[in-house]
Amino acid sequence: MLKPFFALPALVVLAFPPQQPVPATPAPATGNMANPVKPTAESQAKAKKMYGYDCAMCHGPTGDGKGDIAMKPAPKDLTDPSSLKDMSDADLFAIIKTGKGQMPGDGDRLKDDDLWNMVIYVRSLAKK
Ligand code: HEC
Repeated sequence: MLKPFFALPALVVLAFPPQQPVPATPAPATGNMANPVKPTAESQAKAKKMYGYDCAMCHGPTGDGKGDIAMKPAPKDLTDPSSLKDMSDADLFAIIKTGKGQMPGDGDRLKDDDLWNMVIYVRSLAKK
């Protein structure tokens, strides 16, 4: 007679399975999440190198937007400190990871840590 009562928890578990284990990647970049990475000379040297390979052809070696490939809308002038002032680190992370408009994302090539370092590097292109 009590069986239905015992079956109920099992049904609940079936209907709402426990959360899938979260893959061991850093938390997804959302909202105003702060950059979890602390730049080092080494990580920034790597970011600079990757920028030269993956970004400079469109954004220009200095980030001024005058790369070899011209596009519409053109990328912003990253050497101008006002260009990125309204974008959070998480915004930049998302753009670099998944792309924006005609820009392809680099998420396949760069690990999340590298992407966060790229955010720091991109901000460092602004003239002080
Ligand atoms: C194929 C050309 C291309 C490549 C490669 C590229 N970008 Fe972009 N990027 C663009 C364009 C075009 C935009 C503007 C997109 C828009 O507003 O529609 C943009 C936007 C951005 C922005 C946001 C600021 C803005 O101009 O709107 C950042 C930051 C950025 N790119 C960083 C990078 C980094 C870092 C890399 C290399 C990992 C990279 N991009 C590679 C073309 C490119």
